Amino acid sequence: MSGRTVIRGGLVITASDEIHADVLIEDGRVAALASSGTPAAEAWVADRVLDATGKYVIPGGVDAHTHMELPFGGTFASDTFETGTRAAAWGGTTTIVDFAVQSVGHTLREGLDAWHAKAEGNCAVDYGFHMIVSDVNQETLKEMDLLVEEGVTSFKQFMAYPGVFYSDDGQILRAMQRSADNGGLIMMHAENGIAIDVLVEQALARGETDPRYHGEVRKALLEAEATHRAIKLAQVAGAPLYVVHVSAMEAVAELAKARDEGLNVFGETCPQYLFLSTDNLAEPDFEGAKYVCSTPLRPREHQAKLWQGLRTNDLQVVSTDHCPFCFVGQKELGRGDFSKIPNGLPGVENRMDLLHQAVVDGHISRRRWIEIACATPARMFGMYPQKGTIAPGADADIVIYDPHAEQVMSAETHHMNVDYSAYEGRRTTGRVETVLSRGELVITEREYTGRAGHGVYTPRSTCQYLN
Ligand code: URP
Ligand code: ZN
Ligand code: ZN
Ligand code: ZN
Repeated sequence: MSGRTVIRGGLVITASDEIHADVLIEDGRVAALASSGTPAAEAWVADRVLDATGKYVIPGGVDAHTHMELPFGGTFASDTFETGTRAAAWGGTTTIVDFAVQSVGHTLREGLDAWHAKAEGNCAVDYGFHMIVSDVNQETLKEMDLLVEEGVTSFKQFMAYPGVFYSDDGQILRAMQRSADNGGLIMMHAENGIAIDVLVEQALARGETDPRYHGEVRKALLEAEATHRAIKLAQVAGAPLYVVHVSAMEAVAELAKARDEGLNVFGETCPQYLFLSTDNLAEPDFEGAKYVCSTPLRPREHQAKLWQGLRTNDLQVVSTDHCPFCFVGQKELGRGDFSKIPNGLPGVENRMDLLHQAVVDGHISRRRWIEIACATPARMFGMYPQKGTIAPGADADIVIYDPHAEQVMSAETHHMNVDYSAYEGRRTTGRVETVLSRGELVITEREYTGRAGHGVYTPRSTCQYLN
């Protein structure tokens, strides 16, 4: 719907400000903000007025790391773009950046086209793509330039998963050199996969097959080593680097050191590393399989260092790495062999609430909540200020958030297409009430009023977060 909407009486929170303001929306964009109750705000005439008294008015979340329908370990992540983006909207996220996959022996273009086909016409909220580069060769390197020009400005490489997504140091260096030239941002899965595969083989030979061994073989030191190596390769290439799903405090220390040296090195962590631990991986009766992801969950003592990293800006972004697999039929593929459990956790619906809980618990401020969940991911991946803030000219991707409502997270009530919740039974304070995407109501007072196909592809500019 075009036309004018006003959101009245809420506390507007962005990464930089908290103001009691009314927000005027026109033709899908923020037209103006004015202090609530002032003549300027009162004079606005609108087709629709949304009352946000006593609520927060925040930018829609930007989840820069999702895997809808990802093929992994002989199966597919269980959320489609339709179900996953609807769940995202329920959780107050209005933009996702998902990972298109180049398979070995194929071109980037083929992979990107395939992901466009999966997403187009199916999404409830807007989406962009990163490109997973699994086969670095002369052709691929040239294609990277073309992708940057058309708005796919970030590329994920894997130091893990030999034989699947893995790149060796030479391939990584070449891709980094290319990105130093074309403005792309390399996103690194930093784990020493060659060493991990040796430890996997040895563990299985000892009969250590339970899910908890997934955490034991994927050692924090091997995350730190890979993080260090990626930083040095990026430094040699003169390229910026974004390390995805950081879970080990030793890896945070590597990032902090590089940043102290002034390097353009960035880190992302995910709610699962902030709220869950190896205790979950050790749950009996194969329940631990629900918590198998890579990098793995760590012992509890890592959490404090991750929170600290988020406060000191040694970590800049919290994304979900949403990659759901049902317990029944999917996680179960790894009964008797933890290395066959598909890797990934659901969470696209939970991120904004869990991070609000972190505000309630005193880990981060309200503005930092918006910064790490909305503004910085938008900047990092070239979508700011269209996404990630509430300011004149920005897309009207806005959440009315009730900071006092209580909820209990559960698979019974969530909207992700997966048969368990990683946060089952967890009580949180704060809840999404209403969500607008480009001015259209997607969630209206906790009813889904959106539609598949409202969400559109969002081409991105290059990283806006460099020193
Ligand atoms: O376990 C995970 N993280 N699954 C998704 C793929 C990846 O490495 O991000
Ligand atoms: Zn092909
Ligand atoms: Zn990864
Ligand atoms: Zn991922």
